[in-house]
Amino acid sequence: MFGSETGHWPKAWSPLLERFVYFCAMNIDIITVVPDLLESPFSHSIMKRAKEKGLLTVQTHNLRKWAINKHMQVDDYQFGGGAGMVLMPEPLANAIEELQQDKPYDEIIYLTPDGALFDQKTANQLSLKNNLLLICGHYKGIDERIRKQYVTREISIGDYVLSGGELPAAILVDAIGRLLPGVLNDETSALFDSFQDNLLAPPVYTRPADFRGDKVPEILLQGDPKKVEEWRHEQSVARTRERRPDMLED
Ligand code: ADE
Repeated sequence: MFGSETGHWPKAWSPLLERFVYFCAMNIDIITVVPDLLESPFSHSIMKRAKEKGLLTVQTHNLRKWAINKHMQVDDYQFGGGAGMVLMPEPLANAIEELQQDKPYDEIIYLTPDGALFDQKTANQLSLKNNLLLICGHYKGIDERIRKQYVTREISIGDYVLSGGELPAAILVDAIGRLLPGVLNDETSALFDSFQDNLLAPPVYTRPADFRGDKVPEILLQGDPKKVEEWRHEQSVARTRERRPDMLED
């Protein structure tokens, strides 16, 4: 994950440089019972580049490291009865407290379907932080006392229930990571994403200019940047009015 592991700098420098990265880069730690689920999402494309450039570090931590017994137990039945296991408070508290010794977290975020709906505004806010700790629930979720005592923010990625918080965590990291300065090649491109302006993005085209008789709008071929900008804005407004009129009400 760090440059030393990828051979970018001498091993002896590692502790110092890692500390430096903790201050400059954004660091996201993720506590999960299924770390394998988070292997691939950060190993490709933009997220991979962000990590290689030292702009983002993502570390997953297997909750079983803090299991309460030799059976690697981290969950138990819920008091009061009912189907489904609950992640116990002890391993989670120990995990959080151990990780907190390394970094002062700006936010400790629990991914849960009953959290606040994740949106671009939240991604923008979180992209300004240095250190985030994400907690992925599994089964029936986590003991309420962890939510009360440690969690600073609860986020849902949509009104549906997934089997755990790992995929939501990956979505959060992607949405936040791509906003970090220097991550995207053309830094301005995130500014024109859908939602950044409370508008959906305009249609985009590439070659060929004529695809089986379906032609690219003439204005995009004429090379007048001002006209292109106006056209794109009109298209954004029209698309938003048609597909997401609720966004124009704000
Ligand atoms: N865990 C399970 N479902 C979820 C959702 N919709 N959002 C965030 N975390 C979740």
